[in-house]
Formats: sequence, structure tokens, C-alpha cells
Amino acid sequence: MANNSQDRALRERAAQVIPGGMYGHQSTALMPDGFPQFFTKAEGTRITDADGNQYIDYMCAYGPNLMGYHHPDIARAISAQQTSIDAATGPSPLIVDLAEAMVGMISHADWAMFCKNGGDATMMALMIARAYRGKRKVLVAKNAYHGAMPWNTPRPGGVLPEDRAHLIYFDYNDTQALEDAANEAGNDLAGIFAAPFRHDTFTDQSMPDREYAQAARRIADEYDALLVVDDVRAGFRMCRDCSWETVGVRPDLSAWGKVLGNGQPISALLGNDRAREAATKIFVTGSYWFAAVPMAAALETMRLIRETDYLEHMTVIGQSFRKGLAEQAVSNGFGLRQTGPVTLPMVLFEDDPDFRIGYGFCQAALKRGVYLSPYHNMFMNAAMTRSDIALTLEATGAAFEDIKRSRASLKPSAALTALIDA
Ligand SMILES: Cc1ncc(COP(=O)(O)O)c(C=O)c1O
Repeated sequence: MANNSQDRALRERAAQVIPGGMYGHQSTALMPDGFPQFFTKAEGTRITDADGNQYIDYMCAYGPNLMGYHHPDIARAISAQQTSIDAATGPSPLIVDLAEAMVGMISHADWAMFCKNGGDATMMALMIARAYRGKRKVLVAKNAYHGAMPWNTPRPGGVLPEDRAHLIYFDYNDTQALEDAANEAGNDLAGIFAAPFRHDTFTDQSMPDREYAQAARRIADEYDALLVVDDVRAGFRMCRDCSWETVGVRPDLSAWGKVLGNGQPISALLGNDRAREAATKIFVTGSYWFAAVPMAAALETMRLIRETDYLEHMTVIGQSFRKGLAEQAVSNGFGLRQTGPVTLPMVLFEDDPDFRIGYGFCQAALKRGVYLSPYHNMFMNAAMTRSDIALTLEATGAAFEDIKRSRASLKPSAALTALIDA
């Protein structure tokens, strides 16, 4: 086991001053034993934990790292902007530049508003959908994550039934279920939320059926409601436009975050002219929403998205990762399910209902310097090279052999079992 004395000491201190020792999606409470909680460095494709152990990082900060941590062009744009203005009494001209850049790139968009986190953008989408015609009901796919606000957070603590009183749930990719949900909402239908693909935690991912995506558009039109694509997670890892361009559907609103500033805190809600007036009716803001440094980072990230082959490169690299894992699984006698886009890999084991094989595998890969998730989709970044993939596959090859040897003694995670039972 790698040295983890600093991590343990930090966890002990954190337990005194941070509720539960850590919270939210970056808590390692659900990760396999041995996953570090604290990191001191992130550079390119690598993260280094508090004890100096380095990993090839397939979580990419849960999405934001698109071009590589500290991409030199983006780092330069950040440093240059820091010398003039960041958060101040009014926004800088960059907010107009960035709105123009996004409207120029995203086909459905006529306007942009900026905020900090993906949850801000999805909350604004919800409010604008309701402000649009003063209607209340919003359709959301079961188990779809759109942020940690009371209307959608996946855990029940602190949430009232009233927070979700006007949400109607349907099964992703099920056109009939979507029609039925719209019927139930009737004249009160304000909006439909759509994830670009089904990217729920713990389960196989599924790409959107064209028919389903087009039905979502048609139903929104029929009911004079707004269609929202939540591109916070998948944005710019499926295409250089809103992800539902891949199925020929243009939403009224799209929510963006994560990759937008390549790690700088910025997110966005984009909309079309149909939703413009409703967007002027809601009051939303935040002390840091207008800060210029993250906007400078976002402008530079947009430029790299437009001008480089980052997406094609990530796709090729993602394919070789997927192919390599698939071959290793077969040669070691494991069934593997790899679903969703190759730029957002999801790797689950067959015959692994309590995830003990997946946990054992990720633990064994971590020991060899590769940071994978056993239950969440992962993220490719454009700094990944063929040699990173070769190093990764060396580690995963050895990890497969480890779990083949220890298969009979692998144990389910107590924390995960408790969560599933709850
Ligand atoms: C699809 C989706 N929407 C919204 C969010 C919320 O984004 P944030 O955590 O930046 O608030 C996330 C975060 O993972 C997400 O994946």
C-alpha cells in the first residue's frame, strides 16, 4: 500500500472541523479503501496526493479538466487577466466577448448568462421555464442528476416534498413515458429537462434515441413549454456544439459548466429568442458570477475548442483505452460493460451486483498509479497521450491479474452497501 500518512492525518483534522470529514461528490467515503482524499498538485493528466503519490487521473476533477490541468495557454490568459480586473463593482467587457463567443458556437443559442456552478445554470433553466408562461410542471428523467439543489439533489436530507411538488419523472429514452408525463402535466407543463445521454451513477449509460430526443422537442412545442438540455457534464466532450446537435435536436435552453473554464469557476445558461423575455423576468445573481478571470479562462478554452483537434484526439485516445480494457477483460475471464461516449468512459463488470469486482479492480489500478472510478462515468482530457494510455493499460493489465487471483476473497464496500440499503 502506498504511503498515506499525510492523508490520514488530514482526514483526522478534517473530521474535527468539516461535517462528516468531507461532503459532496469529492468525498471518498464511497470510493474503495485506500483512495486518497487530499491532493496537492494537478498538472496535465496527473494528480498528486498529499503523500506525493502521483496518478494518471481519469476523473478530471469530475469533468472540468478538458485540455489538461494548467494548460499553458489558459494559464497565460488567467495570469494576464489577474493583473487588471477580476471580481469588481461591475463586469468587465469579457462578459460580452464570452457571450458572443458562445452564441457564435452553439447553434440553438441567441443569448448567454454566466454563473459559477452547473447547479446555478440548471436552477436558472428551471426558473426560466416557469417564468416563460407562468406554468409549473417540469419533466425530469428518473435518477438524472442536474445538481445538488433541493429540487434535484440525490439524497433526501433537508429536502421537502414541496421542493419537488411539480416535478414529474419519466424513464430516459422512453418516448411513451415522456408522452404520458406531458399528458399528466397538461396545460401546466413548463419545461422538459434532458441529459445529453443517460449518465446516471452506478448504471450502464445509454445514448439518446433520435426518436426520443425528437419527441422531447415536439412535445415541448405542442405544450408551449421549454426544452432544456443539461450539458454540464457532457458539454464539449460529444461535439463542439450543444450535445443534442448529434441527434438533430435544438433545445430552447442549455446549461453548461465544468469544462467551460478548464477548471476556473464558471458556468453558463444559453437560450434562444423564444426564452429571452422569460430570462429577463428572473432575478439571479452571485457575488462572483461576473468575475473576469474565469471568463478569460473560458474565452481561451473556447478558442482551443474551436481551433484544435482536442475532440478527435480524445476520441482516438478514448477508443484505445476502451479497446485495451476490453481485451484485458476477455483474456482474464471477466465480462466488462463499457457504455456511453468513449470520451466519458463508464466501466462496469458483469456479474458484479454489489460492485465488489469493480472496487477491487479500481483499488488495484490505484496502487499502480491510475485513478479510476468503479461507479461513476470517467472523463478523458486532451492532454492524454498514447504513452499515458500504454502506462494505464500496463497498470490495468496487472490489476485484472490481481482480481483474478483474489476474486473469491473480494468483499463488497460497507459504505456502498449501506447506501444501497438506505
Ligand atoms: C449533468 C449535470 N448537471 C448539473 C451538475 C451540477 O454541476 P455543479 O456540480 O457544477 O453544480 C452536474 C454535476 O456533476 C452534472 O453532471
